[in-house]
Amino acid sequence: MSKNILVTGGAGFIGSHVVRRLVNQYPNYTIVNLDKLTYAGNLENLRDIEDKPNYNFEKGCITDETFVTGLFKKYKINHVIHLAAESHVDRSITDPLIFVRTNLIGTANLLNCARQAWNGDYDGKLFYHISTDEVYGSLEMGTEMFTETTAYDPRSPYSASKAGSDHLVRSFWHTYHMPTVISNCSNNYGPNHFPEKLIPLFINNIVNNKPLPVYGKGENVRDWLHVKDHARAIDTILHNGQAGETYNIGGHNEWTNIDLIRFMCDTVDEKLGREVGSSQKLITYVTDRAGHDLRYAIDASKIENELGWTPDYTFEQGLAETVDWYLENKEWLDNVTSGEYQEYYDKMYNK
Ligand code: NAD
Ligand code: DAU
Repeated sequence: MSKNILVTGGAGFIGSHVVRRLVNQYPNYTIVNLDKLTYAGNLENLRDIEDKPNYNFEKGCITDETFVTGLFKKYKINHVIHLAAESHVDRSITDPLIFVRTNLIGTANLLNCARQAWNGDYDGKLFYHISTDEVYGSLEMGTEMFTETTAYDPRSPYSASKAGSDHLVRSFWHTYHMPTVISNCSNNYGPNHFPEKLIPLFINNIVNNKPLPVYGKGENVRDWLHVKDHARAIDTILHNGQAGETYNIGGHNEWTNIDLIRFMCDTVDEKLGREVGSSQKLITYVTDRAGHDLRYAIDASKIENELGWTPDYTFEQGLAETVDWYLENKEWLDNVTSGEYQEYYDKMYNK
């Protein structure tokens, strides 16, 4: 059945991969990308699909009730995939309120606009909220993992705002019977990742022989998943997930930061024909992140067993391809670093 899907945050890192996948895989769907184009939104991410007839871009804010309600009417939206968020933990430590406005109030507004637009007729409707493993808190070293029933224990303003948004989504399922689904994913990596996050920042710094600021002792553990595997999981849940359910998504791919950083150094060295290991001299230990969660690890057995999704990428392949992408897309990185990417909307849509 055809779907009219409102994707929020589609100009961001994960959102752009989701939009591209849906636009290419489902030519009979109408895809509407709603994005405010904050510092993290980059329409250059979607250059290759912006002329497709089933793709539409709408610049605006998820907190704007009139604007969002207008989109529901204009495109007869029957599905929402909600990715728009402030996403960087370090920024949430310096400026927590914007995280509350976007992640909490923005999600509440979207939910309420959907409720009003659908007006109790939930047949063929779905509100799909994209969330994070960080809502579950921090694990000790060992083998314990986050499951869908792990109690919430968010510890940064970012994860607290995401946890609050998850609770709001569930409240609309329980109170109004609006069909909702939530997925909580581990750390993504891959092309188009904004170079404030560990992997793209460090690839860029290694290439440019700049210091690699490792927080604390580098012993924190993250579970890395290729962004295209995440986009495929989202597609799977969109089509086969059960309303009212939560699905954890992860790569079964835990790395301490320092091991990962050494691996990145060696991969870039090899690709650039440098002596392998030479870039490790760039490693610089700096003050730890406040409230730095020690370890995240996702138990993804529910989505594997119930929906048949498993990751395609091995980390070695995914990281090598990601390094290649950053080396081959220097213009993308230069535009992001210089700020030029923020002029793309005016060039393309506001002539
Ligand atoms: P991102 O920061 O790259 O992109 C966020 C997008 O949202 C940007 O395009 C930005 O312009 C847009 N946006 C921000 N505020 C907005 C507003 N008020 N109105 C409309 N658009 C707005 O984020 P990402 O890393 O792609 O993450 C996307 C989603 O996935 C987030 O909800 C995040 O919590 C979640 N998530 C991310 C990861 C990860 O590793 N990156 C892992 C799990 C879950
Ligand atoms: O787990 C999912 C989450 O992963 C998402 O919900 C977030 O949106 C996403 O940003 C990411 O959060 P992290 O804080 O784990 O990612 P980040 O890339 O910022 O940091 C990864 C690890 O590397 C973390 O332990 C902090 C460390 N780090 C990060 C930076 C930017 C450093 O040591 N130095 C750095 O300069």
